[in-house]
Amino acid sequence: MGTEQRIEHLRKMRSQARALDRRAVDRQHERGKLTARERIAHLLDQDTFCEVDSFVRHSARGFGVEDRRPLGDAVVTGWGKIDGRTVFVFAEDFTTFGGSLGRAVADKICKIMDMAMRAGAPLIGLKDSGGARIQEGVGSLDGYGRIFERNVRASGVIPQISVIMGPCAGGAVYSPALTDFVIQVTETSHLFITGPDVIKAVTGEEVTFEELGGAMVHASTSGVVHFVFSEDVAALDGVRYLLSFLPQNNLELPTYFTPTDSPTRTDDLLDQIIPDSSNQPYDMTALIETVLDDGDYFQVHEHWARNILVGLGRLDGHTVGVVANQPSVLAGTLDIDAAEKGARFVRFCDAFNIPLVTFVDVPGFLPGVDQEHGGIIRHGAKLLYAYCEATVPRVSVITRKAYGGAYLVMNARGIRADTVFAWPSAEIAVMGASGAVNVIFRREIAAAEDPEQRRDELVLEYEEEFNNPYKAAELGLVDAVIEPRETRAHLISALEMLRTKRESLPSKKHGNIPL
Ligand code: HXC
Repeated sequence: MGTEQRIEHLRKMRSQARALDRRAVDRQHERGKLTARERIAHLLDQDTFCEVDSFVRHSARGFGVEDRRPLGDAVVTGWGKIDGRTVFVFAEDFTTFGGSLGRAVADKICKIMDMAMRAGAPLIGLKDSGGARIQEGVGSLDGYGRIFERNVRASGVIPQISVIMGPCAGGAVYSPALTDFVIQVTETSHLFITGPDVIKAVTGEEVTFEELGGAMVHASTSGVVHFVFSEDVAALDGVRYLLSFLPQNNLELPTYFTPTDSPTRTDDLLDQIIPDSSNQPYDMTALIETVLDDGDYFQVHEHWARNILVGLGRLDGHTVGVVANQPSVLAGTLDIDAAEKGARFVRFCDAFNIPLVTFVDVPGFLPGVDQEHGGIIRHGAKLLYAYCEATVPRVSVITRKAYGGAYLVMNARGIRADTVFAWPSAEIAVMGASGAVNVIFRREIAAAEDPEQRRDELVLEYEEEFNNPYKAAELGLVDAVIEPRETRAHLISALEMLRTKRESLPSKKHGNIPL
């Protein structure tokens, strides 16, 4: 064969590899889903996709698969760019063998994961698969094992993002579960270990696919999913937006965006946001948006454990991770889910050099037998542990309540916060006035002529003495009491001062976070 014929042959092979089963593609579109290649084209910057392994074919035998050996098999893999930065991607192709994972598919995914790790660039997995390829048996299970091991190896080295855009069931769910962020599309995708039929057979419970493993369930109840989008295109745009806040790997800083917002911008809203009554809620989201560059705040886990807020934004062009109590949900108390949500986010930011800004308004841990028996001690310790081991710059702003153990858990000076600001409305104490007075003045109140009146007087006295930031400031536990309207400028100044922070943990194999 001459060179020209060889080139012609290559072209034929290429178009064979890209050839689509028209009926399967139509079915995919009818289900409201894009194909693997359409998804990649939308995800990446135009004409940047470099495909890998488009000629790989399985060599399985039996059940008729030997007669079906499509080029590229059931996954499309390669690298490309998002906003000019390299990313690696694999997209399961539901139109071929239902996107199921046999050895060849696993080999392709593992190769792209290895390449992403070597290059130090993010990995994005677009999931749409019937799971382990039934015809290949344990060989396909082994493929999942190899992927899981790589997910863990890459954890904390490169950002890993999974987008659930179709079925994802059985043990296959553990690859996305091991990644940093899971995005799910509503209605067209489901995520579960055992499906409705098995559940009905084993427990008798009747449940639909959507009720069991739909996007909103995982976003609001199980906490498996960080972001929900209503269709493929929006989810892929979401990936691009998320990546704009992240570095390429653990050795780099997130991209700097030249800010348009003034670093010294003040806002009167902050002076007015804390209600006069200490027990009245307010919306912490509004406060965060007011402080960040251009009000741009990408909330993570928006629908789960809403009593704590975590998300990404920028201050003077630099990415920050924000953690904040939300007084308008469960009074901003910390419970099991909130502690887990906060801990995972803090660890992500720490792994990827994203400074942490913490807004504190926490009356304590949520009281209740459910919480105690559910292990709030064990779970609350996760958030504490995550902050304690975080070596990125850590700055706190105490806006109102900071009581007891929850005060410490929310990045207090005692656990090595770098800078702690407090607003004049801060109340930093062992406990709230009412509870405290009941404990320390119980006898005096009981003996009083009018116990109720005496109690109220003592509460007032206690509030005056302790419900302020000045005791903490006297002890150096608060670095500065600031005017709320100037919060943005103070944060930017502190983070700039901390840009050269150097801190490392004692050498060890790994710590033993209470899981
Ligand atoms: C081989 C599969 C397949 C699989 C789907 N297909 N799943 N082929 N192995 N696991 C094929 C179908 O035979 C069909 O091929 C094509 O994909 C499309 O599937 P349909 O059933 O027509 O599509 P739909 O009606 O949309 O249903 C999708 C589905 C269903 C819900 C995913 O296919 C399904 O239940 N599949 C089996 C899921 C499953 O039990 N997988 C194993 C899970 S256990 P044709 O040729 O007709 O187009 C597992 C363990 C992982 O994954 C463990 C890791 C540790």
